Amino acid sequence: MAGRAIVNGLHHGDDAAMVQFLKLVHVTCVVLSIGGLATRSALSFAGVKVPKSGWMGWAPHAVDSLLLAAAIGLMITTGQYPFVQTWLTVKVLAVTCYIILGSVLLDAGRSRASRLAAGLGALLLFGFIVSVAISRNPLGILG
Ligand code: HEM
Repeated sequence: MAGRAIVNGLHHGDDAAMVQFLKLVHVTCVVLSIGGLATRSALSFAGVKVPKSGWMGWAPHAVDSLLLAAAIGLMITTGQYPFVQTWLTVKVLAVTCYIILGSVLLDAGRSRASRLAAGLGALLLFGFIVSVAISRNPLGILG
């Protein structure tokens, strides 16, 4: 295709603006997602009941769905896929663990100690995921 070449698995040329746009959406949703999780867990630790209906109920799902949609768009436009690129495999597995830790953190039925431990784990894992994404190295900051 004219104006389009693949270098190191990345498309250059026609797709560059699309990749930039999808990255902006992806990273904006990442910031909204972690900010929302931090806010909800802080409210929950303070004993505030966060409503399950209304925008506080659906907004986190909307943000996370958009985050994932942009991730799928980035996979296609940059030609990098989980179980093909090791860094993306590590990222998907780490995101899965991060989601599980996040659900423990928000579960008011669990002990304060286990929720704090899950929150700390989620925070460390989040930092690791960002470092894997930026370096495109499966070891991220540990590498
Ligand atoms: C908590 C979840 C996530 C975080 C914190 C995160 C973070 C990031 C960041 C910071 C970038 C930009 C990297 C750069 O500047 O080059 C990025 C890019 C990307 N992310 Fe994510 N991401 C998450 C979830 C996902 C998921 C679930 C997938 C796919 C299954 C994914 C696929 C990608 C792809 C393909 C790129 C483009 C990498 C490139 O430019 O080569 N991300 N992510």
